[in-house]
Amino acid sequence: MDLLKIQNLKNQAISSIIEAQNNQELEQIRINYLGRNGEVTQLIKNLPSLDANERKEAGILINESKQIIQNAIDEQIAKINKESLEEKEESIDVTAPGEKPQFGHLHIITQAANEIIDIFEKVGFTLVNYPEIEWDWYAFEGLNMPLNHPARDEWETFFIKDLKNKKYGQAVLTPHTSSGQIREMENNKPPIRMLNIAKCYRRQSDPSHAPMFYQFETLVIDKDINITHLKWTLDYFVKSYFGKDRETRIRPFHFQFTEPSFEVDITCLVCGGKGCKVCKEGWMEIGGAGIVHPKVLENGGIDPKKYSGFAWGFGLERVLMMKHGIDDIRLLFGNDFKFIKQF
Ligand code: PHE
Repeated sequence: MDLLKIQNLKNQAISSIIEAQNNQELEQIRINYLGRNGEVTQLIKNLPSLDANERKEAGILINESKQIIQNAIDEQIAKINKESLEEKEESIDVTAPGEKPQFGHLHIITQAANEIIDIFEKVGFTLVNYPEIEWDWYAFEGLNMPLNHPARDEWETFFIKDLKNKKYGQAVLTPHTSSGQIREMENNKPPIRMLNIAKCYRRQSDPSHAPMFYQFETLVIDKDINITHLKWTLDYFVKSYFGKDRETRIRPFHFQFTEPSFEVDITCLVCGGKGCKVCKEGWMEIGGAGIVHPKVLENGGIDPKKYSGFAWGFGLERVLMMKHGIDDIRLLFGNDFKFIKQF
């Protein structure tokens, strides 16, 4: 056997291994040389036909070549694998800006509630929380609205059919935060400075009313409390929440649980009080207020000869909608990210 032929075959194999671009090509090369019918295998098959001396020499050379070819294939496979891994790593551009994770934030209603709490805490009000499912007594009767009194109609109440209490009457979903007035008087002796922020419920739904909404109620009871205290606190709140330029005014109104009673207006945020399409006369209504009715004080166990008080109840969504120029309350409960993310 021509030993040179063996050498050449080996060299040929090595050069094609080095040139191979991928693992499939290398596998084909292995089959061509070392496979069952491969060229090196053929040489081995021919060995028996050689004479003893030649056979030994050729045998050693062929085995060596076989080993060298196999090693070269293994090395080339490792090299190709490493390169393709590096290529993958290179395709990550570490200088590109990262993807921002989504961060949540407090809902606009919670933000407004927190703002309101801050404003009132500064002047000594205490935040309280009373039941959303409330007895008729606290929601109406105790507030000087006896059963069947027409004033109740204003509150478009949800009644809880099968829940009644002998002393306190029918259960309702509380239609206003004023239900907290008597509860507060029962829990505390004057001086009282209450801030009650709570969900309220009424059978109503249109761009400015939702069946569930928030009110915030202030109740102040102390010696000699009068309308000037109410007006000062109102101004303080409105200027803190809406800005220094806002003016307030109180207009005579009627509530069963306050006497005298008022509706509260602030100067329009759009025109600043001159009068425009939104407000018509320069004023926008934000809620009801008044001097606590003596009968309500009595119902709360407070002597109206010794103490007096004021209260007001405003729609929380209402003030926040005014502040941000939102024209439909239902947006606040719609969970639309495009809306929510703006705040
Ligand atoms: N509770 C009244 C309402 O819901 C508002 C109000 C509160 C009026 C306190 C006077 C005093 O309309």
